[in-house]
Amino acid sequence: MTEKNYKVGPDEFTVDEARLQQALARYHEGKGLIGGDPRKRPRWLHPLPAEPAPAFRLLQSSPEHLARLHRFLSSAPLEIEIGSGPGDFILDWAQKYPRRHFLAFEVKWKLVRDMVQRAQKQGISNFWASDDDARFDLPRLLQPNSVDVFHILFPDPWWKPKHQPRRLFSPPFVDVLALLLKPGGILRAASDVPGYADVIQQVVEGHADFLSHNPELAARFANAAPTSRQAFCDKIGRPYQFFYFQKRS
Ligand SMILES: C[S@@+](CC[C@H](N)C(=O)[O-])C[C@H]1O[C@@H](n2cnc3c(N)ncnc32)[C@H](O)[C@@H]1O
Repeated sequence: MTEKNYKVGPDEFTVDEARLQQALARYHEGKGLIGGDPRKRPRWLHPLPAEPAPAFRLLQSSPEHLARLHRFLSSAPLEIEIGSGPGDFILDWAQKYPRRHFLAFEVKWKLVRDMVQRAQKQGISNFWASDDDARFDLPRLLQPNSVDVFHILFPDPWWKPKHQPRRLFSPPFVDVLALLLKPGGILRAASDVPGYADVIQQVVEGHADFLSHNPELAARFANAAPTSRQAFCDKIGRPYQFFYFQKRS
């Protein structure tokens, strides 16, 4: 398990609806993307493992590398984790299910570099990763009805009102998740921030394509390793909630 220092957080999770709506009106211009809109970024200085290692940046990887990525994404059942942190869950999950393909998004490039190195050391060949903001890449990378499972575990709550547009659970991004999931596909989410857990449930259950949270689906993930945040919560006795939302068939 990867040790990481987490803060408990203030637990005063608020939604400034007016401010959020203003930001969401500009969602498709890239408002709220972490690091800003990558189309406006001059050049990325931090190196990811060199091609053909299974790491990519949508706007910077070579066409040959992106072709490799597309073959990977379309040639087996696909699970995607968004905000994987150090990858404790996804690397273990990829090892447990060698016939499925796994893609991790994590905006911290060092964590992506380390995940890819760990995967290579452990001989995990069904795994790719990117340090792009998942919200930018997903609609550009994947076809509708192509993803079996999305995992979004302990997403950042982004406490400050001015940072709300960075929250992953917002109606336009849930639209993207709904579009990309296969019918019957699963959105698996978790949070230890009660206010954010409420938002997750409201925004997903409020979407016409998703069924209500179904705790029975947890059985399918019973052997999943904890994420590093989950392990931190377990260690300090902090409660958290998991959700399983299925896309309508
Ligand atoms: C609170 S941490 C949780 C990490 C991990 N899921 C866990 O449970 O230990 C949230 C992670 O999501 C990443 N993140 C936040 N927004 C993201 C985005 N839009 N795309 C990709 N990664 C993101 C952050 O860098 C951070 O590492």
